[in-house]
Amino acid sequence: MSDKLVCVSDYELQAKKHLPKAIFDYYSSGADEQQTLRDNTTAFSRWRIYPRVLRDVSSVDMSTTVLGQRVSMPICVAATAMQKMSHPDGEPATARGCVSCDTGMMLSSWSTSTIEEVAEAAPGGVRWMQLYIYKDRTLTQSLVRRAEDAGYKGIFVTVDTPYLGRRRDDVRNRFKLPSHLRMANFDSPDLAFSSKEGYGKDSGLAVYVAQSIDPTVKWDDIAWLKTITSLPVVLKGILRAEDAREAVKYGVAGILVSNHGARQLDGVPATIDVLPEIVEAVEGKVEVFLDGGVRTGTDVLKALALGAKAVFVGRPILWALACEGDKGVSNVLELLREELHRALALTGCRSLNEVDGSLVRRSALVSKI
Ligand SMILES: Cc1cc2nc3c(=O)[nH]c(=O)nc-3n(C[C@H](O)[C@H](O)[C@H](O)COP(=O)(O)O)c2cc1C
Repeated sequence: MSDKLVCVSDYELQAKKHLPKAIFDYYSSGADEQQTLRDNTTAFSRWRIYPRVLRDVSSVDMSTTVLGQRVSMPICVAATAMQKMSHPDGEPATARGCVSCDTGMMLSSWSTSTIEEVAEAAPGGVRWMQLYIYKDRTLTQSLVRRAEDAGYKGIFVTVDTPYLGRRRDDVRNRFKLPSHLRMANFDSPDLAFSSKEGYGKDSGLAVYVAQSIDPTVKWDDIAWLKTITSLPVVLKGILRAEDAREAVKYGVAGILVSNHGARQLDGVPATIDVLPEIVEAVEGKVEVFLDGGVRTGTDVLKALALGAKAVFVGRPILWALACEGDKGVSNVLELLREELHRALALTGCRSLNEVDGSLVRRSALVSKI
């Protein structure tokens, strides 16, 4: 199949044919009116590329580091929950796909395989743990400890989810995990999102978050997190310059500019549009990453030009898994690698060091969404 799938959007169309509706809806949805969902992708097209020519681009080095770990390209995999709904092989398949492409994977706290199973599935891979701060801090601490013990290289703590955004299709579908699956990192059915009681008329996941994730989380909890781990801590879900500056004060190693794939608060800006002010605010003191709407190599180039050290992709990996398991994951990552390679060569960049802000300008023709 993969020879017919030549870009990320081909994988999306194919995945839609494969997946049960409620699962495709859960993966694809944004919050409320989905304005930000549309804008995350559209915003990239408001930035235009200004290529340099005549620079011998016969060789292009795309390797870089993320939190000190070498990766073969600045395209890594974002945390997405419950991947066994997409393909029976789930997160271990994603881990194998990432290792075969020599790039990094962020594992969701809400994975359908355990932290340890994912590590064992693809030894030697660069992996980071995404963390939700639970009301139960002992439980939260145990997730961090398990990630450390299993060789994960950093903690991406999600700071944009004191409550779950309202994804209307999930409410309509009364979204919950299929009965043969569970959030594998937790023992009790309540925490594993496999309660037999059901979740009423809401999205089951929204009920789960209200029951278990701590809405009181504040900056002190970042200080606490730093006391319980020696791994680098990255804040995932920053959209404002002053929050970025505050994060630097709290000693984080990085910031992931993210609006949670437009799944939390509708109406927030596209991530590519706020990236420049966040990069400016942190003055090079920490690494800045971006996710949200990255679908092509030129999207990646634009994010790098505006100061991201690397980007993360979420949904494209779920679509890839749905179509072809671990082979799909590596195919999609290779497609993006090829597209980025071409974009770099055609803009006269022989390495990522040569990507700078002069390569992009915001288009005067702003499309209305
Ligand atoms: C189906 C799905 C599940 C997600 N699960 C999580 C999660 O468990 N934890 C988290 O911090 N972010 C989660 N995210 C957000 C992603 O980490 C990432 O921010 C987002 O997907 C990037 O946007 P993109 O899908 O347009 O690439 C999820 C996103 C999707 C689409």
